[in-house]
Amino acid sequence: MILLKRVKSRTFTVLFCIITITTFLFSYSYNDPTSYFFKFAFRFTDTVLSKGLCACTRCINVEDEDPWFMERFNQSVAPLMSKKNSVLSEDTYRWWQWLQAEKKPANYTEVVQKLFEIIPDQEHYMDSGPSRCRTCAVVGNSGNLVGSKYGSLIDSSEFIIRMNHAPTFGFEEDVGRKTTHHVMYPESAKNLQNTTSLVLIPFKTLDLQWIISALTTGSIKHTYLPVLSKIKANKDKVLIYSPTFFKYVYDTWLEGHGRYPSTGFLALMFAVHICDEVNVYGFGADREGNWHHYWENNLLGGAFRHTGVHDGDYEYNITMLLATKQKIKMFKGT
Ligand SMILES: *[C@@H]1O[C@H](CO)[C@@H](O)[C@H](O)[C@H]1NC(C)=O
Ligand SMILES: *[C@@H]1O[C@H](CO)[C@@H](O)[C@H](O)[C@H]1NC(C)=O
Ligand SMILES: *[C@@H]1O[C@H](CO)[C@@H](O)[C@H](O)[C@H]1NC(C)=O
Ligand SMILES: *[C@@H]1O[C@H](CO)[C@@H](O)[C@H](O)[C@H]1NC(C)=O
Repeated sequence: MILLKRVKSRTFTVLFCIITITTFLFSYSYNDPTSYFFKFAFRFTDTVLSKGLCACTRCINVEDEDPWFMERFNQSVAPLMSKKNSVLSEDTYRWWQWLQAEKKPANYTEVVQKLFEIIPDQEHYMDSGPSRCRTCAVVGNSGNLVGSKYGSLIDSSEFIIRMNHAPTFGFEEDVGRKTTHHVMYPESAKNLQNTTSLVLIPFKTLDLQWIISALTTGSIKHTYLPVLSKIKANKDKVLIYSPTFFKYVYDTWLEGHGRYPSTGFLALMFAVHICDEVNVYGFGADREGNWHHYWENNLLGGAFRHTGVHDGDYEYNITMLLATKQKIKMFKGT
């Protein structure tokens, strides 16, 4: 797939050069009607090149005419925390701290300082450009994956993003076997392969303390629920979802619906901002309108959708709107 795209883009480059050179020659040597054709061709290729801000056949970041998308999409908000962007505005800190109403939070600045002594401090994935084609699969946990046979399609992506308890073992044919990024929070954590990046969504200062602890001493065993005290994950690949980006998703994309976005929606927005092509699997109900995890048989009923914390319907609307506008591609499953 990727090879084919490379070949395609090379062909395109060659074509572009030929058109440019001939246009240049023709429009300057002749003053006949054909030069209008070449001028048009030149303008066309010029437009395509300046607008196609990635090397995929389909790019999210296109300076298109869709005002709804362009008003919301802001690629300069970094999705992942670095030491530099970790400083929160007073507004953001207050909102973030309100999410799970931590009683006596530790000093955020000091915790972040300590965190970046354990995990690498880097600016991640802010490298979009005309030569990049990053294809991503966002794999939700819906029962609509059962029997879908999406496994090899999912595994053909460069980034494969899964979330919370999602297993692959035993479900490879439908969900794939690779995971490059696993999005979780302390209460939904699971052990990972050494090659997978743990993407932590922090809802409170304690969550940042938890990841420090879980990668080192294992002293934190309880948040508002019991949590894994130690986690098997490659600490060189641990990434932290930025609270600033978290708030941007809530304010800008959900316009304040629900108390805060679901893990699925946060993972989707992460992909929309770091990928050039986003394919979405395992979101929504199954064919019968039932909500359950692909690895469980029990139906979750309404509780799954209306937890009181997330506005699942609104999130689904925004997701469908992104699909309608061809920013993402939805795979509906069975
Ligand atoms: C995009 O985000 C940056 C960084 O947070 C901010 O300075 C800028 O105003 C935002 N742009 C828009 C159009 O909202
Ligand atoms: C947190 O710690 C930093 C650095 O030690 C200090 O400058 C700051 O005043 C502390 N903040 C609070 C709210 O105590
Ligand atoms: C995991 O990967 C790191 C490099 O990122 C390496 O240093 C470490 O030895 C690996 N650990 C295991 C258990 O394979
Ligand atoms: C979702 O979209 C439908 C159709 O456009 C609309 O009727 C419904 O009110 C929307 N739901 C929410 C929660 O915004």
